[in-house]
Amino acid sequence: MPIVALREILTDAFEHRYGVAAFNIVNNLTMRAVLDAAACAKAPVIIQTSVKTVRWEGAAILANAFREMAAGLAVPVSLHLDHCPDRKVISECIACGWNSVLFDGSALNVQENTAQTGAVVAEAHAAGVDVEGELEAIGRVEEGPGEADQPYSVEDAVSFIQSTKVDCFAPAIGNAHGLYHSEPSLDGDRVTAIVEKVGVPIALHGGTGMSQAQFDDLISRGCAKVNISTALKIAYIDAHKDYIGRFPHVYDPPELARFVHGAVQDMALDHIRRLGGEGRAW
Ligand code: 13P
Repeated sequence: MPIVALREILTDAFEHRYGVAAFNIVNNLTMRAVLDAAACAKAPVIIQTSVKTVRWEGAAILANAFREMAAGLAVPVSLHLDHCPDRKVISECIACGWNSVLFDGSALNVQENTAQTGAVVAEAHAAGVDVEGELEAIGRVEEGPGEADQPYSVEDAVSFIQSTKVDCFAPAIGNAHGLYHSEPSLDGDRVTAIVEKVGVPIALHGGTGMSQAQFDDLISRGCAKVNISTALKIAYIDAHKDYIGRFPHVYDPPELARFVHGAVQDMALDHIRRLGGEGRAW
């Protein structure tokens, strides 16, 4: 069975210092394209869903599709819930068979975030599900690239990780979600300081548009999970536009799907390779 715990995937990546791509898929087609890219690269991969995608597609439908598609694969894969501040959605995904969840308590004060994240860890671990934690908000590029707040010290982050017992931690290091207007200035020392103190794998958010040098540096410091969302959305939507532009009079949905699948698979393969994941499957 190729479906494995997030912890298992991240432990290997963290130990051997490569990055596992975590793609925010939006439907069955993109899930399949990412899984096909992982199989092609013989790489572990994380299928990630936003809360919006869970609400639109339905948790049970997504989880069943993931199980069906993963069953025929020979690479380790894991299903993860991205940024979720809603405990009901967390519980629903745990019940439906997600392998891990990110409880996003960044809008809460640190005491409340610590208490709620700790409660999510207890609930999730009892069900064999792993947890990513987040202390400070990781914003969107539109809010100011490279200017994400870091209101908490490294010691605060360490104490949050130790008290909550999260399996993976997502720090704000100047990264943001969306398309960077220019190369972001990223605080790699914050990653190193956290990793040296607690040895927990780090989740790098806002992966779209980071340079190869930034990936290499941050992965060498302990970023084992690298989130890619905007690049998938662009590949998916641009491929539709491209197909319709080329074949304006063709009304053949499976052919369109095949074309879009190819574009998303190529994007995923490229990121898997750039993060050093190729050939890492066990
Ligand atoms: P991008 O949209 O910048 O790739 O960020 C993805 C992400 O971090 C999802 O949590």
